[in-house]
Amino acid sequence: MSAPPLDQYSVVAEGLRRTYGDARALDGLDLAVPRGTVFGLLGPNGAGKTTAVRVLTTLVRLDGGRAAVAGHDVSRSPRAVRGRIGLTGQHAAVDRILTARQNLEMFGRLFHLGTASARRRAAELLDRFGLTEAADKQPQGFSGGMRRRLDLASSMILAPEVLFLDEPTTGLDPRGRSEVWDAVRGLTQQGTTVVLTTHYLDEADKLSDRIAVIDRGRNVTEDTPAGLKRTVGGDRIEVVAAEARDLPVVTAAVARVAKRGAEPESDAAELRVHAPVSAGVPALTEVARGLQDEGVTVADIGLRRPTLDEVFLALTGRSGGEQRESAEHPEAAV
Ligand SMILES: Nc1ncnc2c1ncn2[C@@H]1O[C@H](COP(=O)(O)OP(=O)(O)O)[C@@H](O)[C@H]1O
Ligand SMILES: [Mg+2]
Repeated sequence: MSAPPLDQYSVVAEGLRRTYGDARALDGLDLAVPRGTVFGLLGPNGAGKTTAVRVLTTLVRLDGGRAAVAGHDVSRSPRAVRGRIGLTGQHAAVDRILTARQNLEMFGRLFHLGTASARRRAAELLDRFGLTEAADKQPQGFSGGMRRRLDLASSMILAPEVLFLDEPTTGLDPRGRSEVWDAVRGLTQQGTTVVLTTHYLDEADKLSDRIAVIDRGRNVTEDTPAGLKRTVGGDRIEVVAAEARDLPVVTAAVARVAKRGAEPESDAAELRVHAPVSAGVPALTEVARGLQDEGVTVADIGLRRPTLDEVFLALTGRSGGEQRESAEHPEAAV
């Protein structure tokens, strides 16, 4: 990879290597994160996501390769890097006795803001992360989503150029996840670049401008969410039969339009038949017309883009949720 220009990229990493004993946590990882974007680092447990974040945030030494974050080399100028980044979880032990507002003001003063600036910054962040109403309550009464948003707010005290979020919604319920997603979406508006790791495919899909899929410490592929889906599956036609006895006729009709070499798959319990197609809309019309001619009514018919889960399976041979045994190790809080 030829080095991308540093002024257009918030993170440039080439050939990152890091081993733990025999385990190659990073095995030649390359990254280029355009300034002002949300960049998703997607991979199964054990892929090397946390190690990548630790290297880029100067918490862990590189064994090989080089990386620049916000224009500074992580190995040669770690202090300059640290002054320009935020990392969620670094204040994971949000104080339980102080209120949300007091917590943020305290972090502001820790970062050498004056009392008035710390107070102003805290109020801005409480507003931005939807915590104004809860501002004068203690975080112990907060939901998981609120606590995570308070974490996000505290990592934003200094309006970092680059914010690293390592699995920001792991362990949250669906409501908490969507609250955090809304908060992350707002971050790039003021120019912060966000690097987000996740093993949730839907999360990478919803939040990222670009996604690097990584596995075993290496790049698998990189693209926009839409591009990733296009690369792998293409569209699928999906027909739901109205009655079980129609399933063979429906399957035959779908088989006629399926991509060369592809067999329709059917789910007998749901009366659903689907297959990849190369020309979506014509295939849809042909199947609909064919079934109508044969007097078969269908419950539903449509085209479906592949999910990122299917993308991941196609790229790595494993589903995104699958765990690697070697990933089981006690992880220090980042
Ligand atoms: N501190 C550590 N000690 C030993 N092995 C580690 C350590 N950190 C990571 N690893 C190993 O490196 C690989 C990548 O881990 P990690 O970066 O935590 O992956 P991810 O965050 O994608 O789940 C795994 O095989 C893991 O067991
Ligand atoms: Mg991790």
